[in-house]
Amino acid sequence: MNPVSSLLNSQLALPLVHVDTVREGVAVAEAIFTAGWNSIEVVLRTKNSLDALSEIKRQFPEITVGAGTVLNTEIYDKACEAGADFIVTPTATPTLLKCCHDGDIPVLPGVMIPSDIAMVLEHGFSEMKLFPAELAGGIAFLSAISDVFHEARFCPTGGINADNMADYLALKNVFAVGGSWLASKQWVEQGQWGKITEACVAAKAIV
Ligand code: 3PG
Repeated sequence: MNPVSSLLNSQLALPLVHVDTVREGVAVAEAIFTAGWNSIEVVLRTKNSLDALSEIKRQFPEITVGAGTVLNTEIYDKACEAGADFIVTPTATPTLLKCCHDGDIPVLPGVMIPSDIAMVLEHGFSEMKLFPAELAGGIAFLSAISDVFHEARFCPTGGINADNMADYLALKNVFAVGGSWLASKQWVEQGQWGKITEACVAAKAIV
């Protein structure tokens, strides 16, 4: 199974897309695509998020769309049926990891503490999402564990923004960062699609 990083086409920041409607999902995806990025994560936290993911894939086949907030095997199956290109889980359980390992599409399992990292590695995944990154210890945590878990590579998410993303990306065990600051809830609610494009362009300039 390919690692998630191989799908990101060198994109170092992964926008988290949280939308209430399909229309919002398509508009956010278009705003991010306009900025020159073609990888996003649609978090499955609203009743229309799966439909939004499918419609984004239909209208923008060039965009690589991950399904986020995959908490269990039932959501995993729905995300795959909706057309997700990859899966992101906020946390990991042996059942979910086995399902992800047996599946066909790349997965970024979520970890917060060293025992999570060990379990995820045991299931064959070397790339993982650190969540919630800042509360988990952030840069200090990732630096402290880098020699212990030398094969693990992280996409920290949770508290990442334009001010701290470069410091995270400078770490040798970080391959990308993720976050909702690139498509904030407020901008989505107010239909400020241009702000989303601007935030992505600004993030591109930082990296
Ligand atoms: C996630 O799902 O990874 C987090 O909710 C994102 O956290 P952020 O809103 O701080 O970027």
